[in-house]
Amino acid sequence: MIIAIANHKGGTGKTTTTINLGVSLANMNFRVLLIDLDSQGNLTYSFGIDDDCLSISDVFTGKKTLEEVIVRKEGLDILPANMQLSDIELSLHSVDDRVYVLKYMLDPIIANYDYVLIDCPPSRSLLTINALIVADKVISTILLDVLSIQGLKHIRNTVNEIKEVFNEKLSFLGILAVNTDLRKKISLEVLDFIRKNIDIPLFMTNIRSNVKIAEAPSYAESIFAYDPTSNGAVDYKSLALEITTLKTMNEWL
Ligand SMILES: Nc1ncnc2c1ncn2[C@@H]1O[C@H](COP(=O)(O)OP(=O)(O)OP(=O)(O)O)[C@@H](O)[C@H]1O
Ligand SMILES: [Mg+2]
Repeated sequence: MIIAIANHKGGTGKTTTTINLGVSLANMNFRVLLIDLDSQGNLTYSFGIDDDCLSISDVFTGKKTLEEVIVRKEGLDILPANMQLSDIELSLHSVDDRVYVLKYMLDPIIANYDYVLIDCPPSRSLLTINALIVADKVISTILLDVLSIQGLKHIRNTVNEIKEVFNEKLSFLGILAVNTDLRKKISLEVLDFIRKNIDIPLFMTNIRSNVKIAEAPSYAESIFAYDPTSNGAVDYKSLALEITTLKTMNEWL
């Protein structure tokens, strides 16, 4: 099961969700690979992996194998990224099979994992297209503000286009509201609007605003290592349970 965590809008909790959903699934004894597909390298940094480490760029250029680059932390595998990835993306534009590069890279190792989570960059870039072509499912993370609705429409259009042209099996697993405070009227209004007007399922779980979640990356830890009793840990555990239950009920694969 390959899940792209994607939203063209920036700062909506994609990286935070990739990390903490990933660790939560690993804690349930699933075999998990996290892919940092963003040249900002935020996921890589959040696990305390050095910026000048071997990275996915070295695999794209053929200098290293996946096995040489993958790092193991908190019970899961991580394919790191750094700034070099933006140069790689530029050079990909002249490659014939440029939208399938990630798919070709991952095909040999996919069977080794139960869940592969891809942290996408905040844009409709070639890297995001690569992720959506290899993915089975998409999770879009959103903040409960008005601009998020516009962002959701954009990612929905992109997913529909990729589905039509390249990847028939692609569909949304759900929209995940993050950093929430459901005491705010605007939050409830946005949730209500999405339920009534956007034809993508909303997860039952939402990730409450929790300062521990924001602090954990500075200690190079997931929320489960940093504060396993926090609301953040409780919420990401609940999300992992919801996803594994959905998978069992629907037998996606
Ligand atoms: N539930 C939460 N509670 C508190 N802070 C949160 C929560 N979720 C995310 N944040 C904070 O919000 C900020 C943005 O999150 P994150 O980096 O995961 O977003 P992103 O979508 O990956 O951003 P980008 O588009 O730049 O890649 C971070 O500082 C993160 O710590
Ligand atoms: Mg990010």
